[in-house]
Amino acid sequence: MLIKTSRYGPGRVRPSEITPKGVWLNRRELLKRAGFGAAAFAVPWASWPGLAHAGRKLENLVESGWMLDEDLTSLEDITTYNNFYEFGTGKGDPARYSGGFKPLPWSIRVGGECEKPGVIDYEDLIGSYPVEERVYRLRCVEAWSMVVPWAGVQLSEVLRRFQPTSKAKYAAFETVYRPEEMPGQERGFLDWPYVEGLRIDEAMHPLSLLAVGLYGEELPNQNGAPVRLVVPWKYGYKSIKSIVSITFVEEEPPTTWNQQAPHEYGFYSNVNPERSHPRWSQKRERRVGGSLFASKIPTLKFNGYEEEVASLYAGMDLIKHH
Ligand code: MTE
Repeated sequence: MLIKTSRYGPGRVRPSEITPKGVWLNRRELLKRAGFGAAAFAVPWASWPGLAHAGRKLENLVESGWMLDEDLTSLEDITTYNNFYEFGTGKGDPARYSGGFKPLPWSIRVGGECEKPGVIDYEDLIGSYPVEERVYRLRCVEAWSMVVPWAGVQLSEVLRRFQPTSKAKYAAFETVYRPEEMPGQERGFLDWPYVEGLRIDEAMHPLSLLAVGLYGEELPNQNGAPVRLVVPWKYGYKSIKSIVSITFVEEEPPTTWNQQAPHEYGFYSNVNPERSHPRWSQKRERRVGGSLFASKIPTLKFNGYEEEVASLYAGMDLIKHH
């Protein structure tokens, strides 16, 4: 079950004040659900001997109103079962082959249809915006899902600073192109760089997150270090990793999976159990890390955020505009 608790942002209304009793999960409860008692978020990292990650603890995290009342997927599963074709097509490849990627220092170019084109420096991003904890489900088009405690900055807060003009109908995102550090980019799995896009009202929706961490620390390379998108009501492939540019544009921008297979992957890519992928159903999903014998769970329209986002698509045929 997904719970939206606040539209008012950190510091204005405490989510716990407006959430029905028993629904708000505080940090201690979150950790209990993840099986870590009442310790700090750093604990799962300390107890996970595994893989390379960029790895600083994120200071001054703000509890957000966007939580999910479900057990968290373990750090091990979140960091070893990935899709990041820049490091290979196998689920274990990103963890195995991303150790040579150097995410820092980092900056993102922002331009196109805006009054103040410029650059977001990563240190500035994590230092001067509220970095919120938000627990979202990531529902992959391959019919598996995870529940991830992200840390990130609300995308709209960042985009507003660049003052998009009335011609900014969409935001186009691009992943870094560094074949010397990303072995998958030497291969023709996809047309590089990976690109994605959102309609401007989707980008400005309070749920859209520029994620910079998970489980309280900076993003590991395999999860899209140092900055990725997380758009929880859409299939996981919209959540583009290792972003180097954001451009405001007037026309719908090209997107990697739509270019790859247009009849399979549309621009919108909203989670929709009523529209099957041409090769498989989208009605149910498997939770990564669950028991082998656990049955699949039903997939919810807009991944459970129907109340929050359905109005963005009023009057649209969501089968046609999949
Ligand atoms: N971003 C880039 N640049 N390259 C990718 O291959 N894969 C997408 C998305 N973002 C991908 C990407 C897909 S298909 C999914 S399901 C999610 O990242 C997976 O995110 P995770 O590995 O953190 O679970």
